[in-house]
Amino acid sequence: MGRFEDKVVFLTGAATGIGEATAKRMASEGASLYIVDVVKDELEETARECSDFGVDVVSRVCDISEESEVLRAVEEMLNHFRKVDVAVNVAGIQLWHHTSNHPTSDFERTLAVNLTGTFVVCRELIPSLLETKGSIVNVSSTTALAGIPYSVAYASSKAGVLALTKSLAVEYAKQGLQVNCVNPGGIKTAMTKMPPIDDMDMDLLLRQNPLTPFAEPEAVAGLIAFLASDEGRHINGEHVRIDGAALA
Ligand SMILES: NC(=O)c1ccc[n+]([C@@H]2O[C@H](COP(=O)([O-])OP(=O)(O)OC[C@H]3O[C@@H](n4cnc5c(N)ncnc54)[C@H](O)[C@@H]3O)[C@@H](O)[C@H]2O)c1
Repeated sequence: MGRFEDKVVFLTGAATGIGEATAKRMASEGASLYIVDVVKDELEETARECSDFGVDVVSRVCDISEESEVLRAVEEMLNHFRKVDVAVNVAGIQLWHHTSNHPTSDFERTLAVNLTGTFVVCRELIPSLLETKGSIVNVSSTTALAGIPYSVAYASSKAGVLALTKSLAVEYAKQGLQVNCVNPGGIKTAMTKMPPIDDMDMDLLLRQNPLTPFAEPEAVAGLIAFLASDEGRHINGEHVRIDGAALA
């Protein structure tokens, strides 16, 4: 019997990378899934591959920075599945700028997706998660723990996700909710391609590189699944680095 038999998981950012790998990992362990992303074709491909494990999967195009879209998705998920046991917030963007030229709009856009989007998903799911004594796993980053050049909006948003995670854990632990986050670094996805900016100081950029080769997104999926499963039940308000000793 899989660790997520009879469990319903709401997961954002499922089209590619860590979100796709996590959706498949949880489906392979019996989870019913409601998955969202902004990229339709790849999201539907993830849904098809998850369905191959014989579980119920619903996918919905949803921009988590648009509150009304999140509200609609949560309503649809609850109408379909009648409950939720796990929320996994993976969706995120990373933009690159020298800070002296950083447009305010890009700063705000990054916070809107990575931090406000994660907050709205948590807020909307908390009443149902309290009914199931469920679990939230957010995806933060090593950039929440140590400085990174040329990506201050991203780092700020991920530090916000870390603080959001711990605050929710404290606020709701007594009511049975579990809230943790993972802090990946050096995972092989679209996000870790070379930044498209000029005049980079490569020494600064490589400060947070792993000491071992970059990992596949499945490594993070395994950690998220552990934290969300009954095996991780007593871990609450924790952040876990998964970065090949980059920040050790
Ligand atoms: N790859 C790494 O080394 C690394 C390190 C630290 C943190 N992370 C975090 O892991 C998460 C997944 O990133 P990834 O590396 O798999 O890259 P990715 O680009 O493959 O995945 C990000 C996913 O989020 C989706 N997304 C973007 N904006 C969205 C929005 N507004 N609404 C809904 N979905 C949206 C994208 O379409 C994509 O499917 C992100 O939060 C990222 O910040 C990744």
